Amino acid sequence: MLSGKRIILGVTGGIAAYKAVELLRELVNRGAEVYVTMTENATRFVGPITFQTLSQHPVLTDIFQNDDDWRIGHISITERADAFVIAPATANIIGKIASGIADDMLSTMVMACKAPKVIAPAMNENMWESPFLKRNIRALKDAGYRIVEPEVGELACGIYGKGRLAATDDIIEEIISVLTKKDLLGEKILVTAGPTREAIDPVRFISNPSTGKMGFALARVAKRRGADVILISGPVTLKAPRGVETYFVTSAIEMRDIVLKHYYTCSVVIKAAAVSDFRPDEVSREKIKKDKDGIRIRLRLNPDILEELGSIKEGRILVGFAAETENLLENAMEKIRKKNLDFIVVNDVSSPTAGFGADTNKVYIIDSKGKIDDLPLMPKEEVASKIFDKIVELKKHGK
Ligand code: PMT
Repeated sequence: MLSGKRIILGVTGGIAAYKAVELLRELVNRGAEVYVTMTENATRFVGPITFQTLSQHPVLTDIFQNDDDWRIGHISITERADAFVIAPATANIIGKIASGIADDMLSTMVMACKAPKVIAPAMNENMWESPFLKRNIRALKDAGYRIVEPEVGELACGIYGKGRLAATDDIIEEIISVLTKKDLLGEKILVTAGPTREAIDPVRFISNPSTGKMGFALARVAKRRGADVILISGPVTLKAPRGVETYFVTSAIEMRDIVLKHYYTCSVVIKAAAVSDFRPDEVSREKIKKDKDGIRIRLRLNPDILEELGSIKEGRILVGFAAETENLLENAMEKIRKKNLDFIVVNDVSSPTAGFGADTNKVYIIDSKGKIDDLPLMPKEEVASKIFDKIVELKKHGK
């Protein structure tokens, strides 16, 4: 998503300046071309040479730097940048930008640059709560700047509170978001993710290897493209995506209840969750003891959530996933028909690079008219993008 994008990274003088090194690495790893500008105070926390080495470009610090090529260079960088991110952003730089002050290299470049801006503040909690800082943040938001709010945690000054620089992943997510076309504005999209767990006794359950990666990628991409997103997930270790209304559930019955609660407000529903088809008929209140003859567990069918949604579909777009190990296409066509879907995403879960747990997926998208898109192996976020391209196409044709 960031490949070939030109990003200016502004670093200001706070203890979190060292975290900007990690942010730079991550941006470079994702294929961005990054130009770093630092305030003089920032150079006291981390040397420019670190940023220069990792970005492979000179670091811009001094407005009076005596180097013609470089001076002209920095003008063209601000003109050609796709995004400008400041991380960490001190109360001082936020105040300067809000007041239109440009008195050093970083603040001058911000003012000269028309690219979208992402600001990740980090400071002491009392500063974050100061009325002046709040006023300045509001001014930046009103001007269209995107603020990645700091996190709550232990601060450098020794107290616990709000002020820690947001996680690198969250800053990256906001950068990707400002660079993404908002073609899902006005849509409310419900995504399900992860496995369900069906209890056998207090310490045992039936489940499957779903990690939630596919569903969470769908939620992130939908959010970036401007949709309001509700994510309903079974038990996973992933962090709820910022800005996405996320609910965690355990069993298929719980998932069904919460999906139905939100279904009527949504225009699109994508069911990437691997819902258990069965649950134990009875859940033992006590841990089941070992028995030399083994034990029998009687299973009963869980409700098919997607089938139920299909029966009350009205004008919504309904998308299912299919985890298949054989007869991929025939089984998928049958599911489209039975569950009243607009299309289904079929993954061959027998491959280690696709389906459960992998960061990539290899899917077919099959629509209700029988059109098949055979997509190559790609990261799950790209699969998610293809799914939303298909939804945008359906919307264009009056769906
Ligand atoms: O989470 P990851 O590790 O990233 O893995 C992703 C994935 C492999 C789980 C995902 O890509 C996927 O294939 N999810 C659907 C798996 C599945 O349950 O397939 P199915 O063929 O059993 O079900 C078909 C559809 O009906 C699915 O949309 C499912 O959510 C839905 N369903 C199934 C059973 C049930 N009781 N209720 C349902 O709603």
